[in-house]
Amino acid sequence: MTHYRAVAFSGSLRTGSLNTALILMAQRIAPERLTIEVLDYVDQLPWMNPDTEYDPPALVQRLWDDVRGSDALVIGLPEYNWGTSALAKNALDWLSRPADDRHVAGTTIAFLSAASASGGQRAQDGISTVLGLMGATVIDEPHVRLSFAGDRLQADGTTTDPEIEAAVLAKLDAIVAHLDSRPTA
Ligand SMILES: Cc1cc2nc3c(=O)[nH]c(=O)nc-3n(C[C@H](O)[C@H](O)[C@H](O)COP(=O)(O)O)c2cc1C
Repeated sequence: MTHYRAVAFSGSLRTGSLNTALILMAQRIAPERLTIEVLDYVDQLPWMNPDTEYDPPALVQRLWDDVRGSDALVIGLPEYNWGTSALAKNALDWLSRPADDRHVAGTTIAFLSAASASGGQRAQDGISTVLGLMGATVIDEPHVRLSFAGDRLQADGTTTDPEIEAAVLAKLDAIVAHLDSRPTA
């Protein structure tokens, strides 16, 4: 059986972030065939600037290499004002470039979200549509869209609610199933 490797990051800088907690949970409970490496530098990326997309800053090149060098990308995606947080959007904007060699193309992406009422649905749906148009595969279902989960999810990625772990594991299993289903080169 093939072993897969995913990279992951959180779109929140907040101490006690629930979306960072979901990434830490995913890393902890990942199925045996999936290793998740958390990228700890995404908040250091410069703002997207198309002037440099053909000669990118070193950290952008590192992000591109990390994503191209892995089988999947998992993002803890907050919802801010019906969209993604600027941190996540900035990283995804870099990954969408350059237009003639988009680094998201061919990538398998999964979002884990914790938010208020929406659970992150609007943030996930908006960005998923455009990522799909750019050639990424977004593992949409099963959804991980937690509403008001602050009392059930700890900052270190542990939870008192087994349904949260079950939902995250189902998403990770869906990533593996998708990767298994890809035609071999
Ligand atoms: C600027 C801002 C905008 C927000 N907008 C939304 C929103 O549109 N929909 C929603 O469900 N929650 C919204 N929230 C609530 C966040 O999704 C919630 O606080 C979440 O826990 C933030 O993610 P974090 O815990 O990873 O930091 C917003 C929070 C902030 C700070």
